[in-house]
Amino acid sequence: MPKLAINGGEKVVTRALGKPWPIRDEREEQAVVDVVRSGAWWRGGYANAAESQVGRFEDAFARFQDARYCVALTNGTQAIECALKAVGVEAGDEVLVPALTFVASATAIALVNAVPVFVDVDAETYNIDPEALEAAITERTRAAVIVHNGGYPCDMDRILEIAQRRGIAIVEDCAHAHGSQWRGQGVGALGSLGTFSFRMGKTLTCGEGGAVVTNDAELAEKAYSFHHIGRISGRPFYEFHRVASNLRMTEFQGAILLSQLARLPEQTEIRERNARYLAEGLKEIPGVDPIARDPRVTRWGFYYWNFHYRPEQFDGVPRDRFLEALQAEGVPVGVGAHGQPIYQNPLFRSMNFGRTGCPVKCPLYGKPVDYSQTCCPTAERVHQTQALSLPHPLFLGDTTADMDLILEAIRKVRANTDELKS
Ligand SMILES: Cc1ncc(COP(=O)(O)O)c(C=O)c1O
Repeated sequence: MPKLAINGGEKVVTRALGKPWPIRDEREEQAVVDVVRSGAWWRGGYANAAESQVGRFEDAFARFQDARYCVALTNGTQAIECALKAVGVEAGDEVLVPALTFVASATAIALVNAVPVFVDVDAETYNIDPEALEAAITERTRAAVIVHNGGYPCDMDRILEIAQRRGIAIVEDCAHAHGSQWRGQGVGALGSLGTFSFRMGKTLTCGEGGAVVTNDAELAEKAYSFHHIGRISGRPFYEFHRVASNLRMTEFQGAILLSQLARLPEQTEIRERNARYLAEGLKEIPGVDPIARDPRVTRWGFYYWNFHYRPEQFDGVPRDRFLEALQAEGVPVGVGAHGQPIYQNPLFRSMNFGRTGCPVKCPLYGKPVDYSQTCCPTAERVHQTQALSLPHPLFLGDTTADMDLILEAIRKVRANTDELKS
């Protein structure tokens, strides 16, 4: 009789784990109703924009991330574009980006006419490898978009030291990292600027939305201007200073975010508590390891909880076979935030940059680029054989009972590896 669910045995998990996302109640409903009734549906509806829902959210979110300034805007992709423009990235510049992330971390670079340069990752954290980052810097490198993959902070000591010495700007893509801290400081304003996404599945959401945070007043003013059609604060409304788009957030989004942000500190604590329990439990199961936590990661506010599979400790059973078996047991496990190394997407493999080929064929750049030849070996190996991840809503249970079920399912697959080999 087979024991594993993938072979027709009983499942370990027969109920939903964690909590349905997003968590909401009459507070969010009332917040939206209040905006509808106010008639002020954008921040410009207030004489003092700081009193708008969006203005109040910016203030609260900046404090939550230990940043001095925040500009709330349309989404996480345009937040990266806005941050890159603020640090002065233009046509002909190179911008470094890790191979393992969501494609927007790289397309945002091309959208500001710069050339994405892919950098390999560290096999323990799945974050950009600081040594590889330094090796990729050329005389054309203006900035790096570093990503706190799954919310686990990059080695900011090393990255900021390199950035300062080599004179490049650091944009922290914090789309997975609301609430994450490095040495007790929120991520986002550790580098030049940080960007966030508030899209539906994120740990802070209003359906769609984003933000840029920074500690630098000049960069904050530029980000404000680039999100506001080139206006400058304090100047007449119909006076424009930059080529810039309208990336403004609506008051409906601001109101929902204020309600959701009030819930975030407690949710982050619950996720961390459950994740630490799961990590402890995994230490007893050979072949499935948590990330070896760096003590400088003082809070891990994760979107995905990344961990590792070691096929060599599972009699060579491929990661994908293990994954299917665990999913069949009822655990919604995945392979990391967004799958394959992003340069393997058709956009890059086929060099699909339109009629002119810009920005990579821009005459202001002038170097040959062929992404079909790009290879980041660690990212490819991690993606194919090692990466595992669990989504954040799974960790919101009030007790550790859900973690026990996940551990039981992994133990069961481990104990019946023979069934996977046959
Ligand atoms: C790492 C990363 N960067 C940027 C983004 C883009 O955010 P948005 O979907 O809000 O445009 C995402 C979205 O999932 C992401 O995961």
